Amino acid sequence: MPTGEIEILVGKLEVLNSSLTPPFTIEDHTDGGDDLRMKYRYLDLRRKVVLQNLQLRHRMAMEIRKYLSEEGFLEVETPVLIKSTPEGARDFVVPSRMNPGEFYALPQSPQTFKQLLMVAGFDRYFQIVKCFRDEDLRADRQPEFTQIDCEMAFVERDDVLHAFEGLTRHLFRSIKGLEIEGEFPKMQYSEAMSRFGNDKPDIRFGMELSDMSDLVKGKGFQVFDSAEHVGGFCAEGCAAYSRKQLDELTDWVKRPQLGMKGLIYVKYNEDGTLKSSVDKFYDEAALKQWAELFGAKAGDLILVLAGEHDLTLKALSELRLEMGNRLELRDSKVFKPLWVVDFPLLEWDEETKRFHAMHHPFTSPYEEDMELFRTDPGKLRAKAYDLVINGVEIGGGSIRIHDEDLQKQMFDNLGFTKEEAQKQFGFLMSAFRYGAPPHGGIAFGFDRWVAMFAGIDSIRDVIAFPKNNAGRDMMIDTPSTISEDQLKELSLKVDLKKDH
Ligand code: AMO
Repeated sequence: MPTGEIEILVGKLEVLNSSLTPPFTIEDHTDGGDDLRMKYRYLDLRRKVVLQNLQLRHRMAMEIRKYLSEEGFLEVETPVLIKSTPEGARDFVVPSRMNPGEFYALPQSPQTFKQLLMVAGFDRYFQIVKCFRDEDLRADRQPEFTQIDCEMAFVERDDVLHAFEGLTRHLFRSIKGLEIEGEFPKMQYSEAMSRFGNDKPDIRFGMELSDMSDLVKGKGFQVFDSAEHVGGFCAEGCAAYSRKQLDELTDWVKRPQLGMKGLIYVKYNEDGTLKSSVDKFYDEAALKQWAELFGAKAGDLILVLAGEHDLTLKALSELRLEMGNRLELRDSKVFKPLWVVDFPLLEWDEETKRFHAMHHPFTSPYEEDMELFRTDPGKLRAKAYDLVINGVEIGGGSIRIHDEDLQKQMFDNLGFTKEEAQKQFGFLMSAFRYGAPPHGGIAFGFDRWVAMFAGIDSIRDVIAFPKNNAGRDMMIDTPSTISEDQLKELSLKVDLKKDH
């Protein structure tokens, strides 16, 4: 038609199939709740916004494959039915019919296989690969998720960082049309913790934390005197916060997720006077010192938390992000990548009273720290690194141990007996005897990366058929029971405990 519309003259009409009225509206802003949409995911996937996320995912996968292939990386598939690899979560296990009483584990990552490929001489490996972890789920965690898994032989840390800054830049350029200028900054883990209370700091905005313990203790204020840690930060331009707003923030830090007992504040009023919620214990001169520590000026608000060390840092970090949101300092169009480096090698677990590998047991410590294995293992630094963008851990990796004796020592420190280590990882340690090259690598959370580029928080929206927070697929209704015959074939008996 002259308008550009097309008019169709029907000669014959055949209805191929009829459709029920969908249970929710198939529009960008649907009226369907999460559960309903997941149950009818095939209808949800008809919505343009969801389709666009999957198209973005496809384009990113294409660019990753193109870039890494051009850089000499070979994509190799590794098995899905394997033996447990400890990556910090529980394994999903699969019973073996042919080997009664024995189980495969689904890979938490292809970690040991990619290392074996380096021993085999493959030099540069990558794989876009499904990984499986039985862990508590949240917006950025699914029980099965996808990694861009990579490994390189004959490299040191900076070779790996350089190679994957290249991939990161390529993705920003080809997908977002953005140039990331300059080398990505590197921040030590310890510095990230003290400046941001977090090992994945959002560096799009300031409001950095300061430790105030020395400044405020011993002045008769019980809350500070009994605290392991007193810290805070300066919220710029917030001195005019009302009583109601401050009460609301106080309730926010008292939620069970953060578990703080209260929030202390100092208003640096526009007229230069200082007013705090602890005036009884700290006079104006003392508060001036606080303001100096935080670099606060007239018009600013200082927020302070006190309590057990780790909890307080975590709460401060969350409060900083919350204030960042409220003040609109976390611009979704700005991307600030950062390498967090030199993580501790080991982490003490109070519950099991033993050390755990902070990254995984194949990560190499710094040579100059080796003596600490004997004297103070908690202080050992790992050659490990994370890529953090805008407060999201996009990827993590390390330089690996490639020496059998050091690997044995590592298992020993993690509380494995010689026999356990041999039974679980004998194959890897034996491989190290055949001229294993120095090697290292990284894995990126592909779902997280796509979600970040799509500008959304939940990785569920970039996965075609995701699971809910209870690990269920609502559409196919699983996990589900299996038949008696299947159980028998697998030599299994289900004995559900009453309290389960
Ligand atoms: P790591 O355990 O740090 O390292 O995992 C790498 C990246 O995978 C993403 N990720 C997840 N994404 C969605 N749901 C999950 N449950 C989930 N768990 C992790 C994160 C994380 O940064 N083998 C090592 C890598 C290596 O050392 O090379 C590993 O798996 O973005």
